[in-house]
Amino acid sequence: MPPRKIIIDTDPGQDDAGAIMLAVASPELEVLGLTAVAGNVPLELTARNARLILDICGRGDIPVHAGADAPLKRKLVTAEEVHGKSGIDGVEIYEPPTPLTNGHAVDFIVETLRREEAGSVTLCPLGPLTNIALALEKAPDIVGRIGAIVLMGGGFFEGGNVTPAAEFNIYVDPEAAKIVFASGGPITMMPLDVTHKALTRKDRVARLRAGGGKPASIMADMLDYFERFDEKKYGTDGGPLHDPTVIAYLLKPELFSGRECNVEIETSSELTLGMTVIDWWHVTDRKKNALVIRDIDDEGFFDLFIERLNRL
Ligand code: BDR
Ligand code: CA
Repeated sequence: MPPRKIIIDTDPGQDDAGAIMLAVASPELEVLGLTAVAGNVPLELTARNARLILDICGRGDIPVHAGADAPLKRKLVTAEEVHGKSGIDGVEIYEPPTPLTNGHAVDFIVETLRREEAGSVTLCPLGPLTNIALALEKAPDIVGRIGAIVLMGGGFFEGGNVTPAAEFNIYVDPEAAKIVFASGGPITMMPLDVTHKALTRKDRVARLRAGGGKPASIMADMLDYFERFDEKKYGTDGGPLHDPTVIAYLLKPELFSGRECNVEIETSSELTLGMTVIDWWHVTDRKKNALVIRDIDDEGFFDLFIERLNRL
């Protein structure tokens, strides 16, 4: 089987970095490019961080395109309190040798989907959905060409992580999320309900580091930093490793379970702005528009993550 072609839309982010590493370590996947979006930190830093992570993996050949520097209609909200000033605190920061690739991220997404065989490209959004929404608005014809959209965002049973109702990626650009969920595209969603079951416990980080690979040990250093905020917040051993669940789903979907539901995005309420309203019990006749993942074999997930990162 030829590798599955993916575009990772990202705002690194230590957990985004983990997803990027997992993808480039996996021969089942061909990373056509990374598209950076403003989110955890401003665009200039997410675009630099994406290049830096690829450089650490020896994959400076993968193009990185800068995209939207602000949400569609709102002021950017960032998360330095979680990720540190650089967005990926815990790793030594340097200017990566490979520059950004010319061309806006949105154009790269549109052109790639139009060029590649219909249904052959999977989009993996790991940050606010601004770039994806802009691509869908600019080129509505691409929706039928997308193989899958597997995204990290939202939460329902678990509530929110930035407000009681909203998860960060959706909260930052709810209007973009609304466009994506209304697009009719083939969406699989990794909400907090599943990522909060994937905890970077100390024994897991120790195993990651003990594998001996350099990128894996850099990832372990990043996780040491990343965990401290969530451990305090949730009182857990380790923090949720959100974004790599997206890539793990592509590699081993049998580690996950969920169901097709209608998902609507709240864009007007002050109290619940950015909430993903998931009709889990099918109490409405609204159209099912996403496969909502709720459960994970977390041991299998970390076995995969640790084994793959140590191949790098
Ligand atoms: C999401 O928000 C970001 O802080 C993480 O990178 C992840 O994509 C979790 O809510
Ligand atoms: Ca992210």
